[in-house]
Amino acid sequence: MGLNPLRALWNRLNRSLNPASIDVPFHLHDIGPREVRAVTRVLRSAWINTGPETRAFEQELKAFVFPADAPNASVVCLSSATAGLFLALKAAGIGPGDEVVVPVCTYTASAAAVVHAGATPIPADVDGWSLLGPAQLAPCLSPRTRAVIGVDLGGLPCDVVALKACLEAHRGLFLGGSPTGLCARLGRPLLLVDAAHSIGARMGRPLRAAASFPDFAVFSFHAVKNVSTADGGAICMNLPDGETAPFEKALRLWSLHGQSRTALEKMAPGAWKYDIAVPGYKFNLTDIEAALGRVQLARFPEIEAAKQTIAQRYDRALAEVPRLSIRPRMLEADTGPACVGARLASHHLYMVNVAGWSPEDRDRAIAAAAAEGVALNVHYLPLPMHTAWKERGWQMDAFPMAKALSENEVSLPLYSRMTGSQVDRVIEVFSGLVKSPSAH
Ligand SMILES: Cc1ncc(COP(=O)(O)O)c(C=O)c1O
Repeated sequence: MGLNPLRALWNRLNRSLNPASIDVPFHLHDIGPREVRAVTRVLRSAWINTGPETRAFEQELKAFVFPADAPNASVVCLSSATAGLFLALKAAGIGPGDEVVVPVCTYTASAAAVVHAGATPIPADVDGWSLLGPAQLAPCLSPRTRAVIGVDLGGLPCDVVALKACLEAHRGLFLGGSPTGLCARLGRPLLLVDAAHSIGARMGRPLRAAASFPDFAVFSFHAVKNVSTADGGAICMNLPDGETAPFEKALRLWSLHGQSRTALEKMAPGAWKYDIAVPGYKFNLTDIEAALGRVQLARFPEIEAAKQTIAQRYDRALAEVPRLSIRPRMLEADTGPACVGARLASHHLYMVNVAGWSPEDRDRAIAAAAAEGVALNVHYLPLPMHTAWKERGWQMDAFPMAKALSENEVSLPLYSRMTGSQVDRVIEVFSGLVKSPSAH
């Protein structure tokens, strides 16, 4: 497989003669002078670890995600989404003997966090958009189910309302399993969303932040995400009356050694003494990272608009390419009663499927594009294709939809700093590969 050979030869020659020729990495962060100024300000201040910047970032995230009148809403920043998923389970008392349902179309962290908590991840197949839906969830439920982790793959939000309705419909099953703690008080398993890809996604009637719907939504601020702190994460929570404040306290305690005073509080004259309430972890976000995140969040509309423009340009150019199906970035409302309404993706990934491509075709195409200086990617090889999960007995054939959707999936570069020439180059190289007669 490859581009037209003459064209490929010309491109190679051009690239070797012209070092400034157009290469397209898969991602480039969008850090500008505002971010540099904010980080510099913290570096020059008296405190660089977790402190006022992190608290301000949490408040700004809360305002970004939740309506102003959401008394039970709260946001806690942490060092990564993986830490957030793990800690939400841990603080809810989920551990050995408990089961947590996770779709297999995700990054390993969604399921690894369950293993870290000592619980058992139960792998689920996905719907036509690579998301966990009620039809895939229901067969995975048991009296031991204590949580469900939906994953907003590529930024398209899963239908939390339908998932919650599915859990409500199985209430009797869970109560038979004698749940304790938060699960017992809710009378159902917890609903978490791995929102690593979906800050900015919206859904509902009227539309609001997708992260405001589940019990917990966990963002990632990893370097390639729409809002980045280089590495970092946040748990957005919205629990019933009286549950949020103690849960938030537990999260803060567990994330910082179980220490009764924060590092900053201990700095105050005479405030050196502290207790260790639990043998905690070290998952805090620093003020340097938070300063970066605050500017990124403020710039989110600008970054998202730039990505949307690129995605629309791809849409137009690829619409006529045969055998291509572009993953939707908007789903109209279903008609069912337990349906969330419309769903709008964040513009995290631009995912396409190429009908007729085998995994080998896909791999050859990615290699051919790389030879042309264009980085393509795959999101993701489903978990049962990785050693760690295979060794748990997870077999790809048990997840037919995940298998079908992932085998010929390719993600195109999508980031706000892409130039028009880079976008054109991706279109030229990728559509050339799809149209190539040797492509299948
Ligand atoms: C779907 C998904 N979940 C979780 C994570 C983990 O995020 P973090 O690196 O912030 O722990 C990632 C990271 O890329 C991801 O893609």
